[in-house]
Amino acid sequence: MKVIQVDHYKQMSEKASDMLFESIKGEKNLVLGLATGGTPVKTYEILTTRINSEKVDMSTVQTINLDEYIGLDAKHLNSYHQYMEDHFFKHVPISPDQTHLPNGVANDLDAECKRYEELIDTIGGVDIQLLGIGSNGHIGFNEPGTPFHETTHVVELAKSTREANARFFSSDEEVPTHAITMGIATIMKSKQVVLLASGKSKADALKQLIEGEVTESCPATVLQNHPNLMIIADHEALSKLSKSTLEQIEANNYISST
Ligand code: PGA
Repeated sequence: MKVIQVDHYKQMSEKASDMLFESIKGEKNLVLGLATGGTPVKTYEILTTRINSEKVDMSTVQTINLDEYIGLDAKHLNSYHQYMEDHFFKHVPISPDQTHLPNGVANDLDAECKRYEELIDTIGGVDIQLLGIGSNGHIGFNEPGTPFHETTHVVELAKSTREANARFFSSDEEVPTHAITMGIATIMKSKQVVLLASGKSKADALKQLIEGEVTESCPATVLQNHPNLMIIADHEALSKLSKSTLEQIEANNYISST
């Protein structure tokens, strides 16, 4: 596990966008796993500027998102389709057939989950999966208690997740109760995982992820078993780590026990 400690949100976003930019520029047929939420907003903004200023060719890139709300169609203001359009897709040279998200209004949701999982395999698997982390330790919408073996599936959102996401909706009641998400097993198949975290509200979850035992009650802890995990987090998000873990991070960016 590699942990890069940065001072603040902007620096986290710069580091993440640098990394993504180099991959987009350097790798043919890149499959980028993308995340939504408040955390990656600035990352997409910086990445967009660099792609355009250096006129980077994205014609062989495919993107695949972690999740989508059930009941919101692609054009809904709060759908993750729309988030991706607003923050990234409409600003860069990428066509709709290169971008993939689960369909939250599919008639047959189980068939949609199967289609999505197969799609990931068909396009060659995810090369780099960008992740945020919920303050309850969720990744994607895999809430505490999700079995680690699950692939893409339908989830009921935790109360804390609906409350956290209510800030994007005009009322609490409008926050969907269910979503389609890549499963933990899907995420673990990615060749590299880059998890971003900023702010005090993520400190407990990050402590669990970095120092805690691997347990389904904190889904992010499964990432301790991922062979290529990079965490980019600011001081506040890392503020609950023990002194010795922080010393290791400050010395060499690596947590040696994993
Ligand atoms: P946030 O969400 O980026 O809006 O904090 C992260 C997550 O829930 O995974």
